[in-house]
Parts: sequence; C-alpha cells; structure tokens
Amino acid sequence: MLSREDNELLTRVDRGTPMGNTMRRYWIPALLAWELPAPDCPPVRVKLLGEELVAFRDSRDRIGLIEEHCPHRRASLYFGRNEECGLRCVYHGWKFDVDGRCVDMMNEPESLHFKEKISVVSYPTVEIGGVIWAYLGAPEQRPPLPTFNWAQAPATHRHVSKVVQETNWLQGLEGGVDTSHAPIMHRVLKADSARPGFKPTHPFVRSKAPTLVVDVTDYGYQYASVRPLDEANVHVRTYHFILPFHQIRPSQSEGGHAIMSGHMWIPMDDETTMVFNWDYSETAPLTDDDRLERRLGNGPLDVDQSTFRSVRNRRNNYGLDRQVQKTETFTGIEGINTQDRAIQESMGRIVDRTREHLGPADKAVIQARRLLLHAVKTASEGGTPRGVAGPYEGLRAVDAVLPREADWRRALTPGMVAARIEQTV
Ligand code: FES
Ligand SMILES: [Fe+2]
Repeated sequence: MLSREDNELLTRVDRGTPMGNTMRRYWIPALLAWELPAPDCPPVRVKLLGEELVAFRDSRDRIGLIEEHCPHRRASLYFGRNEECGLRCVYHGWKFDVDGRCVDMMNEPESLHFKEKISVVSYPTVEIGGVIWAYLGAPEQRPPLPTFNWAQAPATHRHVSKVVQETNWLQGLEGGVDTSHAPIMHRVLKADSARPGFKPTHPFVRSKAPTLVVDVTDYGYQYASVRPLDEANVHVRTYHFILPFHQIRPSQSEGGHAIMSGHMWIPMDDETTMVFNWDYSETAPLTDDDRLERRLGNGPLDVDQSTFRSVRNRRNNYGLDRQVQKTETFTGIEGINTQDRAIQESMGRIVDRTREHLGPADKAVIQARRLLLHAVKTASEGGTPRGVAGPYEGLRAVDAVLPREADWRRALTPGMVAARIEQTV
C-alpha cells in the first residue's frame, strides 16, 4: 500500500513534478531507430513525460528531437517538410534545425533577422542498440550513456520492439518486477499446448509459492525468487531492476534457446506508457521467427507498427476466449505480454495503491517503490539518484534448478555481475 501522496509522487511525470524531474536525469528511450530509416525521411511524433515532440533525421544523418508545435502559431511540425538539414513548418515555412534553431522564415523579410530570435525546445539524442535515446534534463547533468549489454550486442543478435500500454508507467514496471504472478498468470494448462506460456512441466510452474530475496545495488536491485520444487531441489529465477524503468530477466527465444530479455516502461504521459521490449542472444543470431515475438505478443503480427497499438486491446477485451480459459490457458488471452497489458490496464489508468493488500510475495514491488521514492528525494535535494551513472555493463539474469542446500547467490550471482550489493533487505 502507498499513501495517496506517495502514489501521486511516483506516478506524475510532467515537467516540474518531482518524479518528472527525476526521470529527466536519465537517458530515456524515445523511439526505435528504424522509425527514422534514412536522412530526410518523414518525421515521427514522440510523446515523452507529457511533452509532445517530433523526431527527424536530417540530411546529414543527425537526429533532431524538438517540440512538436511551431513557435509561430503552433502548427504541428509533424506535417513539416524534412529538407536540407531542417524541418520546415508547412504553414508559413519556418524551418528548424536539429538543435532547435530557426534557420529560415519564408513569410518574413530576411532583413528583419526575426529568425535569430526564435528557437524551439530540442533535446540531445543518441542511437544505441536500435533505440534512439533522449536526454531531457539539464545539460550540465547529462549522464553516461546507457551501455547495457543488450544495447551493445550486434544487430543480428538483438531485437527491440515497442507497444503502447494504456496505464501509468509504474503499473508496468511493478508487473515486470513481480515474479509471483508469472508462473500463475502466464501458464498453459496442458503439457502439449501449442499456446504461449509456461507449461505445467516447467519447474517455474511445478514449484510452490516463492520466497523473494532482494539485494539492493548501486543501480537498483537484483532479486531472486526461490521456489521449493521437490524434496531435493529449488527453482531460482533472478532479475535486475535498474532505476528508474529497466527490467532484465532470463528468457527463451521462440526456438527455445536461452536468451536475455527485458522491458523499459517509458511514460508518454501520466496515463500512457510506451513499453520497449528487448531480447538478445549471447550465442546465436536471432531468427526472423524470434523477431515476430509471437510468444509475447509484441511483434508485427500483434501490434500495429504505425501506431504501436496492440491489436488485442481493452476495446475488444484482449480477445479473451472463455473456452480457451477453461481448457488451455490460465487467462484465455493469447500472448504473454498481452496478458500483462490486459491485467495491468484492468487495474485502472493509475491504480489506487491506497487500497492494496501487499504480502511477502510483493517484496520486490515494495522495494522498487522505496528506491524510487528515495531517488526522487535525492534528485529534489540536488543529488544524483541511484542508477543515473549505471554501471550497466554485464548485468545478466539467470534461472536454474539447484539443490535445496545450495547457496544460490554463490551459484548464480557470478553470472549476474552482482558484486555491487550494498545491503540485503
Ligand atoms: S505556424 Fe509554423 S510557420 Fe506559421
Ligand atoms: Fe507477466
């Protein structure tokens, strides 16, 4: 449970809000690189932290991320012409470069030098890992680049997608660090099921309710769910949470080999989130089939690639099939992340956390909130919130079946780069 005040504090992200100011200290995924495929290609609308922006790639391959509305009379620059190193408003021909400078005005005499007085808000960007990231904070506080392993993997071995979720960002994040729901909500009911989900034979499903262990680190936390499997063994699954919105988890490709996956829950505004989904393989290139994300429901078959809206959405009850729910899958909804979106959206745009009843299985959710509140406090006091400076390299997540008496940290954390544990809570 959270107080009404803390719920407001963590969920409101517009400029000037405490969480909004805190988020503006980090590099933020703004769009996928393929959305701007070539110099002078059409511009793209981007909404970040309540700000309406437009992104474009100029003639020299530089990326501009500027406010959407033209400072002349507020026409949308989305309709603009992307030409000769700038985006030109089609209403009266004012033109802006990637730094937001007005470089030409077609409706005013050159001799007035009016253009020199005009500029639009522009944000620095960087292209890493198939994602265009933006920094919306103060120039003197610009953090190190988000050099996650997945983002540095060769394009052949990684895949990134995005999809709109119709909730506040925190609801998504909390779903992502909530291991206890995963083998329940995402299970299929029959071992031979062809539908996406964890099979009844999977140790994740066969094991009993988890004990959660959360180790706070300098970037957020690593945590493990430890589930009794049988007399001799436990199932352990580990995750990372990197402030403010990254999750890393162990996963498998469509073809069934072990990969690493994660999400980033990026607030478009208080009630809408762009969820970025990434996968990468350390061993083999991803296949075309992997990139369809059929299992998760985030790929081009399930998400309209022009609007990034899920085909199965709240307006059609996510394709809920009661017969499938009875006999084949726990939810009756197809696709693991479609199930997540359905249920998280069912909680309301901003869930009323004053009315929750949290238990020990929610330990990671509780700790994420604590760290976020702490980050807000730190940023408000002028300090550097946890996670701004990484380090991001080497963070991996794993799962394993281990003997009951095994020390899971000793067995698994060398593969997770968790040497920076500060405290155990
Ligand atoms: S509104 Fe853009 S140039 Fe007039
Ligand atoms: Fe889930």
